[in-house]
Formats: sequence, C-alpha cells, structure tokens
Amino acid sequence: MHSSIYYPEEDSYLLSEILKKEIKEIKGKTKEKDISVLEIGSGSGIQLETLRKLGIKNITGSDINKKSIQHCKSLGFQCIKSNLFSNIKKSYDLIIFNPPYLPNNKSEPNESKIATTGGKNGSEIINKFLTQAKNHLNKNGKILLITSSLTKSIKWGNWKNKIIARKKLFFEELYLWELKDK
Ligand SMILES: C[S@@+](CC[C@H](N)C(=O)[O-])C[C@H]1O[C@@H](n2cnc3c(N)ncnc32)[C@H](O)[C@@H]1O
Repeated sequence: MHSSIYYPEEDSYLLSEILKKEIKEIKGKTKEKDISVLEIGSGSGIQLETLRKLGIKNITGSDINKKSIQHCKSLGFQCIKSNLFSNIKKSYDLIIFNPPYLPNNKSEPNESKIATTGGKNGSEIINKFLTQAKNHLNKNGKILLITSSLTKSIKWGNWKNKIIARKKLFFEELYLWELKDK
C-alpha cells in the first residue's frame, strides 16, 4: 500500500508562518553564519520552500514516505528517507516537525494515516521524536513542533517547552511549541 503525500493544511500554514518569523529573528542574531535546518516529515515540501525563500542554504528535508522524498527532490531539495532520525547523522541549529499527532481513528483511510495518526494517543511518534532529537540539536539550537489539543500523553522529558502560537479549528486547537535543551 502506498501512502499519499500530505498536501498543506492549517497545521502546515501555522508552522510556515511562524517559521518565517523565527528565521528572521535567528538571522538577526547570527549575522555571519548560515543556520542549518532539518525538517522531519517534509511531505509536500512547503516548509522547505519557506526556508529557501528566506535565503537558508543549509536545508535538509526527510520523510518516511518514499513519494514525499521523490517529490521534494524534484523541487531541488536534499531529502533523506528516514524513520524519524534513523538515517540522520548530523546535528542542526533548528529542527522542525509537523508530525502525525492525531489519535487512531478507524474512519481514517490507511493511505493518509502515516501523515496524520500518531498511534492510540496521538503521541507515539512525537514521543520517539522527543527522545531521539536530543542527539541532533546543536548547542543553543531549537525545535519547532506542532501538536493538537487531541494529542494525549506527550512525554516532554527534559525539554524546556513553551507554546509560541496556537490556532483554533472546528474540532481541535493546534499548538506550535518551541523546545530548547534545559
Ligand atoms: C502532517 S504531515 C506534514 C507535512 C509537511 N511538513 C507540512 O507541514 O505540510 C507529516 C509528515 O510526516 C511524515 N512522517 C510520518 N511518520 C514519520 C516518521 N516516523 N519519520 C519521518 N517522517 C514521518 C509523513 O509522511 C508526512 O509527510
């Protein structure tokens, strides 16, 4: 069974909008050096495009879905097939992830589950990400992560977390978290 590419939704636009603000802020602080950015789960490449438009050169995309990899490569991006960090070797200044955050729902088609559904509580993929990301973030780096009010049992571990943007939708509220090492 082939999974389809996730085309931009409200969560994508929320991340993209805040990403623009964050990059402008980071660039203001670190004028000389280009920052390195990793996206886990690049999907259609919307966040990669946002980064490219902002002049970021050191961009790495990744996804578990082969179709997304092919698509992002066709847009000219470096994109690695990886289950979370399984094939990621380096560390980055900024890591972004708009993950599958919804609890399992029987009516969701299998084809789109890979992009939307994060296990029974919605947090399975997120919790693995939170553990693995520790080894891939540079000193003073940060993570931008989307979750939903429907996502249950997130294990934040030692991450210092704060919500920097939110968006109310019909059935849920989306949260955009900034995470830093304690
Ligand atoms: C909600 S979509 C977000 C896509 C895009 N970044 C955006 O903002 O529109 C989640 C993406 O994560 C990918 N994904 C799901 N599980 C993954 C995993 N374990 N490792 C890497 N990518 C994963 C999906 O294939 C999908 O492209």
